[in-house]
Amino acid sequence: MTASQIYKVIDRTDDRGNIARIRLVPESGEAPARFEAGAHLDVYLPDVDLWRQYSLCSNPAETGFLEIGVLKDPNSRGGSDAVHRAAVKGATFKIEGPRNHFPLDETATKTVLLGGGIGVTPMIAMAERLHALGKDFVLHYCTRSEDVTAFKDQLRAAPYADRVVFHHDDQDEDQRLDLARDLPAPDADTHLYVCGPQGFMDWVITNAEAAGHATPNVHREYFSADVDASGDSFEVECAQSGLTVEIGPEDTIVRVLAKHGIEIEVKCEEGVCGTCITDVLEGEIDHRDQFLTEEEREDMDQLCACCSRGKGKLVLDI
Ligand code: FES
Repeated sequence: MTASQIYKVIDRTDDRGNIARIRLVPESGEAPARFEAGAHLDVYLPDVDLWRQYSLCSNPAETGFLEIGVLKDPNSRGGSDAVHRAAVKGATFKIEGPRNHFPLDETATKTVLLGGGIGVTPMIAMAERLHALGKDFVLHYCTRSEDVTAFKDQLRAAPYADRVVFHHDDQDEDQRLDLARDLPAPDADTHLYVCGPQGFMDWVITNAEAAGHATPNVHREYFSADVDASGDSFEVECAQSGLTVEIGPEDTIVRVLAKHGIEIEVKCEEGVCGTCITDVLEGEIDHRDQFLTEEEREDMDQLCACCSRGKGKLVLDI
């Protein structure tokens, strides 16, 4: 289990589109943890007893604070609401990280950043880093309308403002993101990064791959997912303890094992954060997460125990 640290809110700005921009420093007075572009923080929300992941949107070169942007999302399970209520100046949060499941390939000759709504947050840290490295990049930022476009003023004033292209659903067709027009030709040294609502991500990923961009060059970060964790019953054997249990159609591995005293750490519980990754020794996995890459899925030697299932019997290395 990773050590947590208490961070204090030193500033909060309510930006357009119901997005709270929250600056944090360790309560202890130490310097904030350093991070790489694409990293996130795990933030514990005691009111709703949930851990939530928020991408860092500050400049990775910034040493004075860490900044996250949090959308107040009416469809969330209460996490974003709890942050908006609690994150007042001086409030404290238990935090783990930074962790980076969305690292930037700094060797790319061309980088395309595609952020949908709040999915722009990791892209801002990436844009800062790519600009500092003098790299060729473009940031496409898609929102419903200019009125809900957080970070707009910052991005317009950024030293790389000429590399930021805004796209708004409620404006002329020709300024909307057109993947056939706006994506570069596929190339081994061209990398795409996408983060946003699931429909936006699916659209970008499907079109990019159909256009010939290699799957490993299309990097993705899901911040939530509609995960269906139900399915046929299967058996799980825990190799270390010798326990064997049945996972029913509506059960998950994590929930059933917890009832038998075997705790697997979870955070998102919807297959996007990777906290619950568990090694699999035998059996066919029915992957339901958005976290593992295609190659990792095909290896069939690990699964996200919060949502993925098995066919027949799985033997886990726990
Ligand atoms: S708890 Fe996040 S992927 Fe399982």
